[in-house]
Amino acid sequence: MNVEIVKEKFAEHFSPEGELYASPGRINLLGEHTDYNGGFVFPGAIDKGIVAKIRKNGTDKVRAYAVDLDSFSEFGLEEDQAPKESWAMYIFGVCREIQKRGGKLEGFDTAFSGDVPLGAGMSSSAAIESTFAFALNDMFSCGIDKFELAKIGQATEHNYCGVKCGIMDQFASVFGKKGSLIRLDCRSLEYKYFPFEPKGYKLVLLDSAVKHELASSAYNQRRESCEKVVALIQQKGHTEVELLRDVTIEMLDEIKDQITEKDYIRAKYVIDEIQRVLDVCDALERADFDTVGQKMYETHHGMSKLYEVSCEELDVLNDIAKECGVTGSRVMGGGFGGCTINLVKEELYDSFIATAKQKYSAQFGHEPKVYDVVISDGSHKII
Ligand code: GLA
Repeated sequence: MNVEIVKEKFAEHFSPEGELYASPGRINLLGEHTDYNGGFVFPGAIDKGIVAKIRKNGTDKVRAYAVDLDSFSEFGLEEDQAPKESWAMYIFGVCREIQKRGGKLEGFDTAFSGDVPLGAGMSSSAAIESTFAFALNDMFSCGIDKFELAKIGQATEHNYCGVKCGIMDQFASVFGKKGSLIRLDCRSLEYKYFPFEPKGYKLVLLDSAVKHELASSAYNQRRESCEKVVALIQQKGHTEVELLRDVTIEMLDEIKDQITEKDYIRAKYVIDEIQRVLDVCDALERADFDTVGQKMYETHHGMSKLYEVSCEELDVLNDIAKECGVTGSRVMGGGFGGCTINLVKEELYDSFIATAKQKYSAQFGHEPKVYDVVISDGSHKII
């Protein structure tokens, strides 16, 4: 992470003094679009993230410098004092959400930088939110626990950035643990760490470098689709049903005539995907990587053909993985661009990467970027 550059820029624009904090981006082995349906996800934090240097400035204003954008923003801490710069809304939102929970904040200066590729589905925005939620809670002694810090990041997305996301990204960023994936029940927030050191395999991301403009509205529409299905099932008298997590295929069939085929198929994808996470966790405990891989391909098929959050470039990357005999591959994160995550046998790694670069660039005119995954710790102070 870009610690030295942040220190240098903070000194140049503000002061040599200050505290350093960092939070990571995340990968997700499996469990996509299940979090806002109360289901399970299986993410881990990565070695790429955001670093911020922060110092109280004795005023009631925040002065922020985004090193990577070379952009300044100054804003207040009250609801009607939002920044003009869209990147600063992530910090403003976190400040507001902390205050809504009773935290007492004052003005501060900050410079931050990151190495999570933007728009690659590795949650650069959650990394910013978690960094500031964790840092401000610590510096201003707000006494907020880690669960609530993750929720502050999520609420920032909902209330200040227009994305009705689930809790996965912020949770993984705050709770990440080196060498472990986290199986998270997104309803109860119960979680379990699974050591993930697949002997003989590598986990690698291939970045399509595609980012679709309408991704956040398409994401919100998927969520609405799921909520509509739940509401109709509740109206059928299934009052115990709170979220799609509680819905069975039999219940879904009861309302089949009242919904479009698209909504039916989307809901079924989510129900199956929740089960797939549990199956993958079981398979991992048996070191059964073939099953893990097979489930990853099933998820890709579901995200592409049923939930419709893939795109041509990602489908091509998935096909190449299949042709190369890669154990598991799928689109990762919200979709509509970004990366595939691939579980590859070590002996296949070099030929897979070479083939993917060659075939992808022959079709799309540029190579996919390649990121090896290193599972790392969550939000922390850098001492
Ligand atoms: C985005 C959202 C998450 C989750 C994933 C899809 O990353 O921020 O909450 O819904 O998409 O699994």
